[in-house]
Amino acid sequence: MNSSSKTLPKVPRLKFLMSIPKLLKNPIEVFSGFFDKNGDTFILDQSDMDVVFTQNAELAEQVFQKNGRNYSKPDKQKKLLSEYLGKGLLTSDGEYWLKQRRLIQPGFKKQNLAHFTRLMQDKIDEFDERLNNLASSNEVFDITHDFMAITFNIIASCISSTKIETEALSRIEFIEVEIMEHIAKTGRLPFLKSWYKLNGEDKRIAELSKEGDQIIYDLIDERKAGKEAHNDILNMLLNIRYEETNEGFSRKQLLDEMKILITAGHETTANALSWTLYLLAQHPEVEARLLEEIATVCGNDKPSLEQLPELEYTKMVLQEGMRLYPPAWITDRVALEDDETEGIKISKGSTVAPFIYGIHRNPKYWDNPEQFIPTRFSKANCKNRTKFSYLPFGGGPRLCIGNNFAMMEMQLILVHFIRHYKWKLVADQKIAYQPLITLRPRYGIKMQIEKREALLISNDNSFPKANQSVKPQTDSKCPFH
Ligand code: HEM
Repeated sequence: MNSSSKTLPKVPRLKFLMSIPKLLKNPIEVFSGFFDKNGDTFILDQSDMDVVFTQNAELAEQVFQKNGRNYSKPDKQKKLLSEYLGKGLLTSDGEYWLKQRRLIQPGFKKQNLAHFTRLMQDKIDEFDERLNNLASSNEVFDITHDFMAITFNIIASCISSTKIETEALSRIEFIEVEIMEHIAKTGRLPFLKSWYKLNGEDKRIAELSKEGDQIIYDLIDERKAGKEAHNDILNMLLNIRYEETNEGFSRKQLLDEMKILITAGHETTANALSWTLYLLAQHPEVEARLLEEIATVCGNDKPSLEQLPELEYTKMVLQEGMRLYPPAWITDRVALEDDETEGIKISKGSTVAPFIYGIHRNPKYWDNPEQFIPTRFSKANCKNRTKFSYLPFGGGPRLCIGNNFAMMEMQLILVHFIRHYKWKLVADQKIAYQPLITLRPRYGIKMQIEKREALLISNDNSFPKANQSVKPQTDSKCPFH
């Protein structure tokens, strides 16, 4: 070990084993407790390897960016996901990943997403009937289900803009949810795999997976056979050519990338929106300022593509929502060789787990970290932020490919939902975390909505302003400006 290397605190195996029942219920609480006791980086001594948990932005930067080539996704995780999702962006590494990423990434550049605003807005408008009914009946409903439904419909229609039969669509949605639940359960409790083999659950999931694949294969085949041009993700994937061979993706590659985009592209967005609405319902001053911005920028019209960048406060609200409740709350990488940064030594083969939830609430990087203060994402306040202290979409070369898509979608949804409806939290409900693959609310979030008559454009600037006393942070660029 280098003479300047720190000895990291270790959480002993026994302590870890004793915390398993709690860990299964709420890992965030358990990890936060370990951080409180041991500082920003500690080692969890596990039987087969050391896991370095960190809420240190500098170490996250080392792993994601500075020495990113030295880190790969853990084999166990890739194996578990690829069993159902196949081999695509989320589940591959090395040369294959790089090649696929270079080919797919241009399709997700901001300028190439413009035409999706219309598709997204159409789905939002279709969804309004449901909201209208909920408002007229004053029904109590769990917003997380509705956000899952709308974000699923949006990603499905952007992947394939040709009308998918309603039955096929709801089957894909059902199958995707069942598979993700299965992956989350067996990922956290690997011994369940043997039990699921015995009780037939494994077989049921394999059959569902096959059925889902067939629906997507049918979409691909239909599209290939048709003559019409379509402006959607499937079309973008079909037009991709490998430079060396001038060949396109195989049918299986198309299937895998489509499944990955569907999976990665809706539950994350649904959770981000659910938590943001939860926060907004408790902060009328933020909601008021949001309404003011919508009225000023859009009047009574739907936001146009050009107006999205002007809806700055709307974006800040979403960014702050994802800071407090990052949908991807933790991630992990395996060191391919020994590494060292800031005196922290990482041995070859050990896993580093950047605890995004903890980085986002670390008082070293954030003033009043537990408070909901959207203006901390204003351009001025972002200027001096520590790099990699804000990671809702990850960082470095494996940054979420759908980040611009997601921000655009969430802005459009939030504008519609807030300007047309008042969102009220049902009193005395239990809100808790269910940190599976994404950070879900364990018991949902129950709300009632009321229709707003019309947006009033304020003349007297008397809307309460959100708290702006945010200390500038240290040295970096905000990823969104
Ligand atoms: C609020 C919404 C979203 C959040 C918070 C989010 C978060 C993330 C994070 C943290 C990663 C990196 C994981 C890691 O490094 O281990 C990631 C990767 C990815 N995301 Fe997203 N995501 C969102 C929306 C989307 C959407 C809408 C799409 C597709 C349209 C998408 C597609 C992907 C893909 C394909 C990857 C893998 C990229 C690669 O490894 O090259 N995501 N996402």
